[in-house]
Amino acid sequence: MKDESPLRFLIVDDEQSIRRLCMTVGQGLGLLCAEADTAEAALESAETAPPDLVVTDLKLPNLSGVDLLRRIKECLPRTEVAIMTGHGSIESAVDAMKLGAYDYIEKPFRVEKMRLLLQRMADKVRLVNENAFLRERVNTEENLDGIIGSSAGMQDVLRMISRLKDTRTPVLISGESGTGKELVARAIHFRGALAQMPFVAVDCGALVPTLMESELFGYEKGAFTGATKSKAGLFQAANGGTIFLDEIGELPLEMQAKLLRVLQEKEVRPVGSNDRITVDVRVSAATNRDLEAAYRAGTFRKDLYFRLNVVTVHIPPLRERRSDIPMLVHHFLNRYAPSSHLQVTPAAMKCLLQYEWPGNVRELENCIARAVTLGDHQVMDVKDLPPVLRSEPSGEEMSASADAASLSTTALAEMERMTILRVFEQAHGDKALAGKMLGISRATLYRKLKRYNIGLRGSEKDEAIEATAGEISS
Ligand SMILES: Nc1ncnc2c1ncn2[C@@H]1O[C@H](COP(=O)(O)OP(=O)(O)OP(=O)(O)O)[C@@H](O)[C@H]1O
Ligand SMILES: [Mg+2]
Repeated sequence: MKDESPLRFLIVDDEQSIRRLCMTVGQGLGLLCAEADTAEAALESAETAPPDLVVTDLKLPNLSGVDLLRRIKECLPRTEVAIMTGHGSIESAVDAMKLGAYDYIEKPFRVEKMRLLLQRMADKVRLVNENAFLRERVNTEENLDGIIGSSAGMQDVLRMISRLKDTRTPVLISGESGTGKELVARAIHFRGALAQMPFVAVDCGALVPTLMESELFGYEKGAFTGATKSKAGLFQAANGGTIFLDEIGELPLEMQAKLLRVLQEKEVRPVGSNDRITVDVRVSAATNRDLEAAYRAGTFRKDLYFRLNVVTVHIPPLRERRSDIPMLVHHFLNRYAPSSHLQVTPAAMKCLLQYEWPGNVRELENCIARAVTLGDHQVMDVKDLPPVLRSEPSGEEMSASADAASLSTTALAEMERMTILRVFEQAHGDKALAGKMLGISRATLYRKLKRYNIGLRGSEKDEAIEATAGEISS
């Protein structure tokens, strides 16, 4: 990983003794050290070996330390630069800080002080690098691997996401518990024009009604006992972005009226205040209840229902899109046992495909996480699955799930082959993209493509599609 390679340190000073001293300190900290006696030489050296940390004297023969700082920050924004100053030049050092210098150190300095300075700079660079690395990983996960599913039902959902992502239309996301409602709400926000703006999730079922108003709309100092200072509400926190109202069906009637007003007037009134604050947020809401039935029964306001439900995205339960199961299994195996190349036995895959999944994708995820923890890290077999999955389905369940009813090993292989083929075509033959969509590693994808003869050209491919073979394994 990035942060394990040694950081590069460049010392710039026209006095050789200072350079020597700093290099010794730097080497003691495990830094790769280089030296330059002018700003020009430093820039030249930075071009061939970009430094992570620079300590430069303020006064240099031609270009000054501040000039050097400015140039380095322009082309290497993550590089930290500290300035060394002589007596009486503190003011210039302060100016340098304004230009983005990390710190300054006065000459003459004690060795210990230089050591601490370099140590702090190195820590900061490592932290920033690490964060950038994590952010990159999260971005790619959210953008590509985030939502797995090639079934017709999930393809509809994905199409809706791309249609909605750059709009501010209110969206109601419906689906049973664990189907991925929050994941979809996040995708609509983070894949679109609002990505850089806040996404604030509110669980309407988790807040007590008395607290909910102040949480959502904020409060004034003195509005109630304990309100020692004013606080902005979640609507304000989401300003410019999305507020995600989860479990909207749980919202008490009184709060429904208040929420409706906010949506109509686009302003909030903090508890205990007479002022109104304009807020501009996109509202997305999720429910696992039948809201239409709720408004007919009088427990949910009809006017609010219509305001929230401009567009509905319905996520089908997992048992209605079983063809997504193999992909999801590999996706979660990759997440919970990365680089372990765990194999799934055909019998285990059969259990996973036949089960009813009342808890949907979340239950499947938990099931894989459990199997990874309890299993032997080589193969995932029936014995690694929770007991409910292992029992034979009843006759009724069997006929209810026609696609899973008579899953022989060959039928499973066929299902997997069809899934891969479909995804591969959706990815226009881009193997890296297909792997991401399937949630499997490149190596696994290559093995499977080879086994199923996918990825061949023209007539070869037609022949290959006819040929089904092999068993299911990872
Ligand atoms: N299509 C999918 N691809 C990958 N992961 C998914 C998918 N659907 C759901 N998940 C994962 O399943 C878990 C549950 O998803 P999420 O929290 O979005 O569901 P939910 O519908 O909001 O559930 P609940 O109703 O219980 O709040 C999360 O860890 C999510 O990442
Ligand atoms: Mg949820």
